[in-house]
Amino acid sequence: MSIDSYEASLKRSDEIRADLPVHPEKYTMLTGDRPTGRLHLGHYFGTIRERVALQDMGVATRVIIADYQVITDRDSTGNIADNVHNMIIDYLACGIDPQKTIIFAHSATPASNQLMLPFLSLVTEAELLRNPTVKTEMDASGHALTGLLLTYPVHQACDILFCKGNIVPVGKDQMPHIEQTRQIARRFNERYGHVFPEPDGLLSDAPAIPGLDGRKMSKSYGNAISLSATADETTKLIKKSQTDAERTITFDPEGRPGVSALLTTAALCTGRTEAAIAAEIGEGGSGTLKKYVTESVNAYLEPIRARRTELAADRGYIASVLAEGNRRANEIAEATLDEVRATMGMVY
Ligand code: TRP
Repeated sequence: MSIDSYEASLKRSDEIRADLPVHPEKYTMLTGDRPTGRLHLGHYFGTIRERVALQDMGVATRVIIADYQVITDRDSTGNIADNVHNMIIDYLACGIDPQKTIIFAHSATPASNQLMLPFLSLVTEAELLRNPTVKTEMDASGHALTGLLLTYPVHQACDILFCKGNIVPVGKDQMPHIEQTRQIARRFNERYGHVFPEPDGLLSDAPAIPGLDGRKMSKSYGNAISLSATADETTKLIKKSQTDAERTITFDPEGRPGVSALLTTAALCTGRTEAAIAAEIGEGGSGTLKKYVTESVNAYLEPIRARRTELAADRGYIASVLAEGNRRANEIAEATLDEVRATMGMVY
């Protein structure tokens, strides 16, 4: 994506952010997650917290559990049923309210998936191959480029457009996908008649959440604090995180990634700044820092974990939340697909 169009997206994102509290009824948010593991603090501060804020503002909110995306670059669905179940528990424990937010899965919404056929006709092979995020994901996977990995941004356009989503909270790496979605909407509307909005990315102003070693927080790096971990497991994980030999605690993400990641984690959980925490700990060294981080993380997650435990005790309820979300999503998807058929002249 060119610098110019990134700047333009950022500007639109800022304008929307200002308008959201004034006209929440103009917006439909669609976003989601791949059910490949448990949600962690990175997900929470990166996007879940914002979804809850949009939901509570009165924006129409839809969250997709992107189960078909799990097999873009791997050979098995793994523990997918358990991951989906726990993802719903995590969502609800964090404040996503199933009365307001539709939670649903790819595999349960056939009418949405069917948009893939007309949408694939609107993109060229060259455009698909040019997407930088797809390339990065292919390299990281060590796998050949599957047809699904190559075309998943188009599938993601189906996710966004079936419910006429017009805002998509994203990190920078997802911006090429939003650009492809806008192009698909525009081309469909031009060729056949107006059906779809051109969605905007809602760029996050939250800094990337570092894992305990200073790299991006990710389950595969073993540096993630998952929401479902116990306070004890969290304590152990923080205790064994890598810091350095320098006694005075300072915030220096480049030079001291381990210490700085711990400071950022505590800053997010307490609402204080990294500098203020570092100054307070001062000569206390990494032992004192780790103790402070452990206490702040566990205190922050305590109510979420308590709700998690309560929710996990009622499997039937969790299943019913997904069933109801799937039902509502299907209703919307079928109405959109009818509109698409009518616009394309396919009513027989
Ligand atoms: N690709 C996203 C992820 O793994 C999940 C996702 C699927 C999504 N469909 C989407 C995000 C549509 C935004 C919009 O993280």
